[in-house]
Amino acid sequence: MSYPVTRLRRLRKNATIRKMIRETEVNRDDLIMPYFVCPGEHVRNPIRSMPGNFQLSIDLLVGEVNDLVTQTGIDKILLFGIPETKDEDGSVACRPDAIVPTAIRALKSAVPDVLIIADVCNCEYTTHGHCGTIVDGDVNNDLTVKTLTEQSLTLAKAGADFIAPSDMMDGRVGAIRRALDENGFENTPILAYSAKYASGFYGPFREAAESAPKFGDRNTYQMDPANSLEALREVEQDLAEGADLVMVKPALSYLDIISRVKEAFNIPVVAYNVSGEFSMVKAAGANGWIDEERLIKEILTSIKRAGADLIITYHAKEFVLSEMRKGNRV
Ligand code: PBG
Repeated sequence: MSYPVTRLRRLRKNATIRKMIRETEVNRDDLIMPYFVCPGEHVRNPIRSMPGNFQLSIDLLVGEVNDLVTQTGIDKILLFGIPETKDEDGSVACRPDAIVPTAIRALKSAVPDVLIIADVCNCEYTTHGHCGTIVDGDVNNDLTVKTLTEQSLTLAKAGADFIAPSDMMDGRVGAIRRALDENGFENTPILAYSAKYASGFYGPFREAAESAPKFGDRNTYQMDPANSLEALREVEQDLAEGADLVMVKPALSYLDIISRVKEAFNIPVVAYNVSGEFSMVKAAGANGWIDEERLIKEILTSIKRAGADLIITYHAKEFVLSEMRKGNRV
């Protein structure tokens, strides 16, 4: 049947009809809010390139997360740490008194209902800013897997609800899974950054986490933005090694990857709407070039429509607050 019998505009006629047939709706349960925790007390350093985001000391982080939960009902966060001191291989992050495990213990006692996903990587903790141990000018895979495994155990012991390795070393999911199982954490799930691309969209994050590489780039471990078949292999391997959830990152330039992963594997997919994607919206919004609230909703909807079950986004809190203000279901 086609025009004039069929008129697709009939189902766009008014708001009620549009709502009736709407396929995708983002709500608070889909969203994960990232935070950056730093040493000290009463510290709230604005992150210049990410308006509205801060490096927070633990005391203020606890207050922020409590506000998040009570004001928006968002109950999932992702934690990144900025350590007091860095070292050659990221061992500083493996100590029980490291910044993130300490923050997790504080959050667990003050805001027990919040689900804490702990990012596992070395780039915030190494003097050179690479995600692992350097041998002959490149990140050595197997040595790095050792520190990541140790860091994961520290985080699990502190009470992390999910361990989320973001380093892109081969075999790290399997190694972390084994270590967790051997130490009584067989019920702690792994969210693997599986298809993580070597992306220019991480720029603002590296200011936020003070984790930019001091030499070279991350092209020998993160994926080439030109590839998609490789993304499926990465996901397949992480699942075989025991990943519970897989992630595609960044989100917006990689909606096709989200969609392919979702179709190929019968599992929940997480998408990371990364710092550069956030900052572009903020910059254009501040200039009055776009309608910021409208774009945020469109962006999050597109990520979910592509196949993401969960979205990590710096827009999480403001999105839910703005939908609540408008009286929309969220
Ligand atoms: C750590 C890590 C990065 C991001 C998340 N975990 C940065 C990187 O790989 O350089 C980026 C997140 C963002 O841009 O919002 N490896």
